Amino acid sequence: MRVFISGNIASVGIKELEENNISITQWKENRQITAEELIEACQGQDALISVGPNKINAQFLKACSHLKVIALHSVGYDQVDIAAAKKNNIPIGNTPGVLSVATADTAFLLMLAVSRKAFFSYKKIIKGEWENYEPSPELGIEVNGKTLGVFGLGKIGLEMAKKCKATYKMEVIYHNRSRNEEAEKEIGAKYVSFEELLAQSDVLSVHTALTPETKDKFTLDVFKQMKSNSIFINTARGGIHNEKDLIQALEEKIIWGAGLDVTNPEPMDKDNPLLSMESVAVLPHIGSATEETRAAMAQIIVKNIVAGLRGEKLPFEV
Ligand code: DGY
Repeated sequence: MRVFISGNIASVGIKELEENNISITQWKENRQITAEELIEACQGQDALISVGPNKINAQFLKACSHLKVIALHSVGYDQVDIAAAKKNNIPIGNTPGVLSVATADTAFLLMLAVSRKAFFSYKKIIKGEWENYEPSPELGIEVNGKTLGVFGLGKIGLEMAKKCKATYKMEVIYHNRSRNEEAEKEIGAKYVSFEELLAQSDVLSVHTALTPETKDKFTLDVFKQMKSNSIFINTARGGIHNEKDLIQALEEKIIWGAGLDVTNPEPMDKDNPLLSMESVAVLPHIGSATEETRAAMAQIIVKNIVAGLRGEKLPFEV
């Protein structure tokens, strides 16, 4: 059996594929594989491990309908045409659960970095602008005791909520398509309407999937319904906020700050105005990038690949 891997995965994954006698071809170039190259690379393969934002769309699935399984190196699957995959009988696996803690850590890190203008202050040192102790530099704001609003209280949102509650006694409110009773019991999270979430959150953290319903959800009109001293955090998908509107909302002080691990587009242009704003922190989509999480993701991927190649149900099928 043969698998094509379109990028790097943790070495434990490679080792386990080899132990299962699966022969590996791997994309080694330091750039994302193109759609055409991916189709070509998958010819003669039995399975694909898709690393990065490859579009697993109808065109790809038709050209690669011989694949027995596709394992995504992500929990998100917005890049996949699920209906076309079903039509071509190709099961799609993802990596849920194992990256919740790391991704929530990133959201928490961004919340603090924004609230204390940490990235902006750091850049002052780099630029040689730290000349003397200044008691009132660009002042931050505190999150202690404030209200965290979670848009999408699933596994990752719950981890973020738990950290905020335990560390800063933040009150947790959330908005989902359906209520998360487990979270309500566990941390006393309160379900609110989307409008209430906007009006009451001091920190609003996005943890939902990118779907037709959530695409471009955070527009200027939406930012206008948030508090003027609020912080917007997005570690989910850049497509959920409208980046032009977010820039305007920050420039016009409609909201106070923003922390992004995901942008639209990715990679972000180095001249994007967000990068020079005081109360903004941006990271290059590193939400789950820890050694522990990458290893756990690779192990799930191998389980999905092995099951798919045997014609069995994938343990983590989207
Ligand atoms: C995920 O797992 O969805 C991460 O965002 C990487 O794409």
